[in-house]
Amino acid sequence: MAGEKVNVGVNGYGVIGKRVADAVAKQDDMQLVGVSDIVYDYRIRVAAERGYSIYASVADKRSTMEQANIPVVGTLDELLGKVDVIVDCTPKGIGAKNKAIYEKAGVKAIFQGGEEHELTGMSFTAQVNYAEALNKQYARVVSCNTTGLCRVLNALYKQAWVKRARAVLMRRSTDPWESHRSGMINTAIPETKVPSHQGPDAQTVIKNLDITTMAGAGPYNLSHLHYAMVETTKPVSLEELRHALWEEPRIAFVHSSNGLVALNSVVELMRDLGRPRNDMWEVAVWEDALAVDEREVYLAFQVHNEAVTIPESVDAIRALTGIVHNDMESIEMTNRALGIVKSFLPKTMREEVRHEVMGRDLEEARRDFMEEGFKGSEEPTKAEPTKGQRIA
Ligand SMILES: NC(=O)c1ccc[n+]([C@@H]2O[C@H](COP(=O)([O-])OP(=O)(O)OC[C@H]3O[C@@H](n4cnc5c(N)ncnc54)[C@H](O)[C@@H]3O)[C@@H](O)[C@H]2O)c1
Repeated sequence: MAGEKVNVGVNGYGVIGKRVADAVAKQDDMQLVGVSDIVYDYRIRVAAERGYSIYASVADKRSTMEQANIPVVGTLDELLGKVDVIVDCTPKGIGAKNKAIYEKAGVKAIFQGGEEHELTGMSFTAQVNYAEALNKQYARVVSCNTTGLCRVLNALYKQAWVKRARAVLMRRSTDPWESHRSGMINTAIPETKVPSHQGPDAQTVIKNLDITTMAGAGPYNLSHLHYAMVETTKPVSLEELRHALWEEPRIAFVHSSNGLVALNSVVELMRDLGRPRNDMWEVAVWEDALAVDEREVYLAFQVHNEAVTIPESVDAIRALTGIVHNDMESIEMTNRALGIVKSFLPKTMREEVRHEVMGRDLEEARRDFMEEGFKGSEEPTKAEPTKGQRIA
């Protein structure tokens, strides 16, 4: 398949599916063959406006769709006959039922976070376990909350800093497109199940992560707000924490001192930046809310549920088909195609310059400490980090 475009289909053109379809269409190494659904209202009509080929996921819905003037070109089975990978973005539980259809068609499939880990045995977050998904038949991109947790905690975990993580997740009550149907007003609902499922779910990606999560939902629909308190294996300085997060892909800083004081202001920034559908694919960490003490680090971050998993689905396509073997190569390709950035306001915030200096200073300080430890050593070994060590 190397050098050729991968043929991709999307089944379920809702909140996630329509974004995955647009993201796939933007990749140089992928061809969006078509999208499949069962509805015939404005949602699927937009796919027609975009010029996407539309398929009927359930055969007996085809005529209803056609009567509504939706230009259906075939059934899901026909779409499956033309693709290398199908990205299932149907509602929770339907993906599990669809697996047999994909299996019969011999097509690789990516499922979303509403499905159970056991459906594929492979739960995916690109920057954590891309290699594990290479050439697999199936993978499941973990949910928005789990993706956010995995990205942030991976930044700490790979430095071997995490002794024990605890996180509180304040989830949005509903998605904007259906907020006339459900949601809540003037209240908040604590989940009574502890740990909430996101902690164990994160462990399906970061296998030995010691984590407990608690969750609840509030009367807003813009995104989720997470708090994490992480007991560390050694005292971690604020600078070390900031730099580790800066170095981690798909995490960007926001600052309340810059007016970004709440979920809505960060979403407003996405609007002002002209992001499609106001999407924030990055996890936004409040840099000025970061804190440390001798035992723990403390973080607050925003996870845009509608958008955060989209780049993961794109990377999962490359992993399953094996067209790109290296995780960072795929992540960078996806980032470039979608416009995922490290710094939201690079012209005036100059974060890159600051972190370059910070990185050098931290490396220098680390080297000093290593040399300190080398006092009295007779061996002709330099106090440089070994190959297997990562520079904080
Ligand atoms: N909404 C989020 O914030 C979010 C975030 C991350 C992951 N997820 C997960 O993504 C998956 C999809 O969620 P969503 O929010 O996009 O749902 P959605 O309801 O917005 O979209 C689902 C789409 O699938 C279609 N559909 C229903 N039955 C179908 C069938 N039998 N065959 C084909 N299409 C069918 C619906 O018409 C709809 O267009 C779920 O697993 C969910 O848990 C959702």
